Amino acid sequence: MGNRIAVVYGSVRSERQGIRVARFLLDVLKERGDTGVLVDPIEHPLPLLDRMYKEYERGSAPPVMEGLAEIFRSVDGFLIVSGEYNHGIPPALKNMLDYFMNEFFWRPAGLVTYSNGRFGGVRAAMQLRATLPEQGMVTVPSLLPFGNVGDAFDEAGKPNEGYIRSATDAFLKEFTWYVEALRDRRAKGVPYE
Ligand SMILES: Cc1cc2nc3c(=O)[nH]c(=O)nc-3n(C[C@H](O)[C@H](O)[C@H](O)COP(=O)(O)O)c2cc1C
Repeated sequence: MGNRIAVVYGSVRSERQGIRVARFLLDVLKERGDTGVLVDPIEHPLPLLDRMYKEYERGSAPPVMEGLAEIFRSVDGFLIVSGEYNHGIPPALKNMLDYFMNEFFWRPAGLVTYSNGRFGGVRAAMQLRATLPEQGMVTVPSLLPFGNVGDAFDEAGKPNEGYIRSATDAFLKEFTWYVEALRDRRAKGVPYE
């Protein structure tokens, strides 16, 4: 049985490049027999954070928040596709993540970063490593960084360099291990909801 994975992308720029990485991951997940669900802040537009999802009475949050909460609750893991803005987490990604918390609990996150520079967004990965656990996500040890993102993938998400697919397969093998390990353990109960 395949796994259901949210591919969480966080740029709303009109010239955004990272959507290529998200598209690539969705294709690879499909090939593996998994179900990838794209979470794109353009399709789920949230204003800058005022009240978190959990601050609303059950069933009374705005539909955009209910829709995202439902997706997050329905998946076994998260692939966080993050660029690097001034060595940090892109604001649309951080804003979207900050709305939620319990929906992420007891699930793994894989950090897939990119940039147009040579370092592939690893500095944002280090910040995500520090913040996602506060939201209940366990980040898997390996990272999957892509440099020169505009050249490395075409518009549709097809990789232009050979290493990309092999690095992704190795990364997803590890990520899937955590997805399945934590899902099996969640089935026996969690310390708190
Ligand atoms: C506000 C801003 C800050 C950026 N800072 C960095 C940076 O610190 N390091 C880097 O390698 N690239 C940086 N870049 C270039 C991005 O890697 C590149 O524009 C990338 O395509 C951004 O992701 P997106 O297109 O999905 O929004 C920055 C871009 C923007 C818009």
